[in-house]
Amino acid sequence: MLFKALSFLLVISSVLAEVPSEARLNTERVLLDMMLMPRGDPAVDSYCWGRYTPIMKEIIDVFEAESKQCQTDFDLSNIAIIEKYNGTRVNITATAKASCTALKQCDNLTDQLESFNCFGTTGRDQSQKLTVMSGESLAAAISLDEEIRSITTIQSLCTERAYTRYSNDNSQALKDLTECLNGNIAAV
Ligand SMILES: *[C@@H]1O[C@H](CO)[C@@H](O)[C@H](O)[C@H]1NC(C)=O
Ligand SMILES: *[C@@H]1O[C@H](CO)[C@@H](O)[C@H](O)[C@H]1NC(C)=O
Ligand SMILES: *[C@@H]1O[C@H](CO)[C@@H](O)[C@H](O)[C@H]1NC(C)=O
Repeated sequence: MLFKALSFLLVISSVLAEVPSEARLNTERVLLDMMLMPRGDPAVDSYCWGRYTPIMKEIIDVFEAESKQCQTDFDLSNIAIIEKYNGTRVNITATAKASCTALKQCDNLTDQLESFNCFGTTGRDQSQKLTVMSGESLAAAISLDEEIRSITTIQSLCTERAYTRYSNDNSQALKDLTECLNGNIAAV
């Protein structure tokens, strides 16, 4: 039974990497205390650990599944948001590249007068286009940032909810296990 409980402790330590370490340490300390406490009846020990180990394992599994779902939801939303802005990105990049190409053509002109005139008019035209592009790009940055922030907040709340549930269920299970080990089997 001690071996089984120790294996369970190892499961908690390794699998529950996502659980804040303070809570994890607390769970482990409580379990260790229970294991080390001298017991009268090995049959009671055996019954209680046998009963609550799977329950606590299930609580961990639920937490893991819920946290994973929070991450999956975030990843999917993130991909959808990025894709929503792909068109804007393509257009903005195209504007910037076209502007560079137009200006480079002025540098290719052998005649100095033509070159000056080219830079003069092309520079003026392109600067207007670049000002519009710049506005669109900054606007896209602002709304993209807002959308990412929003799904990040949702993910935090989701993870928090999963952890709260884990925390409540786990402390209830530890309480029930303690009761059981104390011999209050009927009460649980
Ligand atoms: C959008 O852009 C991203 C990053 O460049 C790319 O991975 C994705 O395939 C693009 N999606 C679409 C629908 O064009
Ligand atoms: C990109 O540019 C094309 C052509 O000017 C336009 O039809 C389209 O609506 C633009 N897309 C976005 C997302 O700005
Ligand atoms: C400049 O001229 C060279 C040689 O004629 C040509 O290969 C190049 O594509 C031109 N560059 C631009 C930007 O027009």
